[in-house]
Amino acid sequence: MDPDQRTGPVHVLLGCFLCLCSLSSAERLCTVPPGPVSVPENNTADVEVVTISSISDVSLTVSVNPEDLFYLRGNALMVKKGLDFESLSSAALVVWVQCSREGSSSVNESVEVLVENVNDNPPNFAQNHFTLEVNELTAVNSSVGLIEATDVDSEPLYYRLESATDKYFRLENINSPRILVKSVLDYDAVQKISLVLHVRDTFNGSTSDEPFFTSVASITVLVKDVDNRPPWFQPCLRTNLGIAKLCVSAGYRGRVNLTEKEEGPLILEPGPVFAKDGDKNRSEQISYRILRGNEGNIFQIDEETGNISMTKAADIVGPITLTVLASQVTNRDQFAVTQVTMEVMKKSRNPPRFEKERYEGFIYSNSVPESMILRDRSTNRPFRVRARDEDFAGGLNPDMKYEVQYSSYVNVTSDGFVILKRVVKTESFALQLRAVDSTTGEFGTAALSVQVIPAVAIPSDSSIGYRPGDMALLGLIMAALLVLCLIVIGFLISRLFKGNAGMDKICEVSFLSLWSFW
Ligand SMILES: *[C@@H]1O[C@H](CO)[C@@H](O)[C@H](O)[C@H]1NC(C)=O
Ligand SMILES: *[C@@H]1O[C@H](CO)[C@@H](O)[C@H](O)[C@H]1NC(C)=O
Ligand SMILES: *[C@@H]1O[C@H](CO)[C@@H](O)[C@H](O)[C@H]1NC(C)=O
Ligand SMILES: *[C@@H]1O[C@H](CO)[C@@H](O)[C@H](O)[C@H]1NC(C)=O
Ligand SMILES: *[C@@H]1O[C@H](CO)[C@@H](O)[C@H](O)[C@H]1NC(C)=O
Ligand SMILES: *[C@@H]1O[C@H](CO)[C@@H](O)[C@H](O)[C@H]1NC(C)=O
Ligand SMILES: *[C@@H]1O[C@H](CO)[C@@H](O)[C@H](O)[C@H]1NC(C)=O
Ligand SMILES: *[C@@H]1O[C@H](CO)[C@@H](O)[C@H](O)[C@H]1NC(C)=O
Repeated sequence: MDPDQRTGPVHVLLGCFLCLCSLSSAERLCTVPPGPVSVPENNTADVEVVTISSISDVSLTVSVNPEDLFYLRGNALMVKKGLDFESLSSAALVVWVQCSREGSSSVNESVEVLVENVNDNPPNFAQNHFTLEVNELTAVNSSVGLIEATDVDSEPLYYRLESATDKYFRLENINSPRILVKSVLDYDAVQKISLVLHVRDTFNGSTSDEPFFTSVASITVLVKDVDNRPPWFQPCLRTNLGIAKLCVSAGYRGRVNLTEKEEGPLILEPGPVFAKDGDKNRSEQISYRILRGNEGNIFQIDEETGNISMTKAADIVGPITLTVLASQVTNRDQFAVTQVTMEVMKKSRNPPRFEKERYEGFIYSNSVPESMILRDRSTNRPFRVRARDEDFAGGLNPDMKYEVQYSSYVNVTSDGFVILKRVVKTESFALQLRAVDSTTGEFGTAALSVQVIPAVAIPSDSSIGYRPGDMALLGLIMAALLVLCLIVIGFLISRLFKGNAGMDKICEVSFLSLWSFW
């Protein structure tokens, strides 16, 4: 066999191998380092991404240039400008570089560029200012609103609520800007609350010096008055019952004359029947009605104004008590009840009259305030005036009051005693007393002149003898001593009869015992 012929297949194999090698070396005109290349966004312009190595005489061109961001400077693949992760459709950009050489077919090499996200955008609220509304009495932990910021490159965001009084609201948690009620609101106490919501795109507590951004929105929360209070008759006395507020009317009083029908609204004390909504910023329409006590329909009430007038004359003396209801027209469950007491008066024919026109009283010049004016010089009996009203049986008008006029020295009690108000510095003074029928205003007057008499030594309490207890004790001691004396005397007499002692001794002993007694 021809050795050349035998080696023929080997040559072919070798030739093929060489051929393959030359083919592959022809294709490897350029070499790109393996794996994707990372470029952080917000880089400066003209940053090198990667250097492509190539054999000599190879020319490189960018054949696929995503978003026209890349160019070649020699063998270096460069980024033209700062990359913006947020505006790219894909974070992975594939750049193709065509390598070509005279006489060889060109090859395309790909470079995968991964754009890294960097925190370069601030969080944003949709508005600088938000307005929220919340009903008063909204339950604790209820949501008032959710005010979120958006940040294109950061998740999650960190929120913080700032307020002048952090009493009323809080955030659901640091990452959830849901504003929750912290304590129950009362419209009467607070109508408007200003809050400032801060957001930050990194955790505040972290010590790293990563860049971060913040943003702020102001929030106004308007508290709305809900219809939680009934009408309140005016005037009324406010009281608190826990967090509830009440206002209680003491009722109204009026007066009509027996067998006389008054025309027009009756004048009442302390004012006309009037109720207003207990909710401060609600003026619910209120209607009035007499519920009870209007026997014989003597009175009528104006449903809208509350004015009470008469339909006919009252024919029985005495008070008539009307129960009056005020209720909200749109919500009858919100109501209040009060009483209107109408006094039916017999007409007064006589004014009050003092028993005397002129009185005289006395006071010591050293009397202290609250001493009583005295009736005469000799006794310490107090001076007293009385006025009678002949319209009343026994002359006793229960509505009569005494008054002092033209003197600052004294006042008069409802029983007619005249009381010193301050130390007197004159020899006498005069004044006028008035007895006023407070129901009709009719009155009678009397003059009182008071003589100031020289001071007497007012015995002080401590020097006046003994209290009853002391006296009883003293009596007891005296009795005991007497018994003792009698025993001694008896003993001595018995000795005398036995002839051992003389009469002198008896006298001496009894004298001694009496001495000791005192
Ligand atoms: C390289 O890419 C260019 C442009 O897309 C194309 O014209 C050419 O045919 C490609 N060459 C090879 C060998 O794929
Ligand atoms: C790059 O970041 C800075 C702040 O760090 C910012 O002001 C600028 O707008 C950012 N540029 C781009 C292209 O995002
Ligand atoms: C409100 O929520 C907090 C925390 O979730 C809880 O501790 C508290 O008991 C809640 N208060 C009420 C009244 O539900
Ligand atoms: C961050 O924390 C500091 C103190 O640690 C504080 O003064 C500042 O108000 C905080 N800022 C935010 C946005 O939470
Ligand atoms: C009742 O009669 C008196 C005396 O005539 C009068 O002054 C008064 O105004 C009358 N009162 C009423 C409520 O009519
Ligand atoms: C109701 O009475 C008041 C006084 O009590 C008066 O001022 C007002 O005009 C009256 N209203 C009507 C409708 O009569
Ligand atoms: C009361 O309520 C009305 C709307 O009903 C509102 O316009 C007004 O501002 C409120 N007043 C106060 C003092 O809140
Ligand atoms: C006089 O006393 C009455 C009670 O008796 C009292 O209401 C009144 O205020 C007093 N007047 C003066 C001026 O002190």
